[in-house]
Amino acid sequence: MRIAISSDHASFELKEHIKKYMSSLGHDVSDMGTDNAETGVDYPDFALKVCDAVNDGEARFGVLLCGTGLGMSISANKVNGIRAALCYMPECAKLARGHNDANVLVLGGRIMGPQLAEWTVDAFLNSEFEGGRHARRVDKIGEIEKKQLKDFD
Ligand code: RB5
Repeated sequence: MRIAISSDHASFELKEHIKKYMSSLGHDVSDMGTDNAETGVDYPDFALKVCDAVNDGEARFGVLLCGTGLGMSISANKVNGIRAALCYMPECAKLARGHNDANVLVLGGRIMGPQLAEWTVDAFLNSEFEGGRHARRVDKIGEIEKKQLKDFD
């Protein structure tokens, strides 16, 4: 599966770990930065790179990391078509796919250890959207996006 990943400086180490972990599972992982833990960068810049890759079809899923995951999730959810889920535990990641059809997983590098992050990634990548009543709700998220676009016209 093609997966795009990025982080800010605060979660660089966990990003590197998860990138290698997903590659070891056979995924084609595209690293969109940042490239060190020292240089302070702005998480919205890196959120947008991954969200664009998902929306352009270059990646099936995105993974975003910042210190808490909050800044990345807030930024990513401003992008039309993106449903980003901040998950600190595997059960949330499973439900983010099953119920919300999330296309971006967000992790907190200062909150989660590497093992918990791996389990959370596994749950996300191995769960399918359940459709049915959840599809109706996800469609309504799309309607909100359309309405926002119309209001800006
Ligand atoms: C960076 O210090 C930190 O604010 C950022 O990684 C993130 O946690 C923001 O939500």
